[in-house]
Amino acid sequence: MKRVTLAVASAVALGGVPSVAASLHGSFRRQVARRFCRSTRLSVGTEWASGATPLSWEVTCATDEDIESLGRCVAEFLGTADVILLKGDLGAGKTTFSRGLIRAKFDDESMRVTSPSYLLDNTYEYDEGLYIHHMDLYRLPTGCDLSMLGIPGIYASSLCLIEWPQRMSADHLPPTYLEMDFKINADESRRISLTARGARWEDKLPQLVKETQERLAAEEEDS
Ligand SMILES: Nc1ncnc2c1ncn2[C@@H]1O[C@H](COP(=O)(O)OP(=O)(O)OP(=O)(O)O)[C@@H](O)[C@H]1O
Ligand SMILES: [Mg+2]
Repeated sequence: MKRVTLAVASAVALGGVPSVAASLHGSFRRQVARRFCRSTRLSVGTEWASGATPLSWEVTCATDEDIESLGRCVAEFLGTADVILLKGDLGAGKTTFSRGLIRAKFDDESMRVTSPSYLLDNTYEYDEGLYIHHMDLYRLPTGCDLSMLGIPGIYASSLCLIEWPQRMSADHLPPTYLEMDFKINADESRRISLTARGARWEDKLPQLVKETQERLAAEEEDS
């Protein structure tokens, strides 16, 4: 039997975890819950420290399937006007994460989601008039004019996943976003940090982490 782990390596920061239970729903909720129950293990107790900023959480994913699962979880917390900036080494898992997220939005696990590195922007209409922009700025020179990609205007009107945001100048950054950083460990697992930038994500991140913790706790109980 294949053994996979998605371990919470550490979790730090924030004042006041909301008591509301975050809501996943329908078949997708069950699917995600099963996936995490089967494949996750809480390696270190998760702890939120009061007052620290920015809010940040870190997970370690053993396989690309685990990264897709993480993408499915994060998808539940996203809608129009959300932006995720995806940093990290070549081949670290940014597109894999985005694939899980986009497939979840379409409730289609076999949907073809390719890397946007050549087209720069793969656009998906996931509900009538609502768009996901999956971008990869790697091939662009640092600080170049991004207006041809609709940046910054599209931030408010769509859901944006942007790989290699380091190519952006500071004035193109959205006012609030989730920053993710992917690192390749020596054993090929991936260490992924999620950091809230701005008020919108300071509100969302605790709820996202709480949901994942609940799944991890369920796994502990089941094992
Ligand atoms: N533990 C792991 N987690 C995620 N991906 C893994 C893991 N081990 C190996 N891989 C492989 O690493 C690759 C990740 O590729 P992906 O396109 O997602 O990276 P990327 O960060 O988008 O790269 P780029 O910067 O080139 O766009 C995949 O081929 C995947 O199968
Ligand atoms: Mg990529």
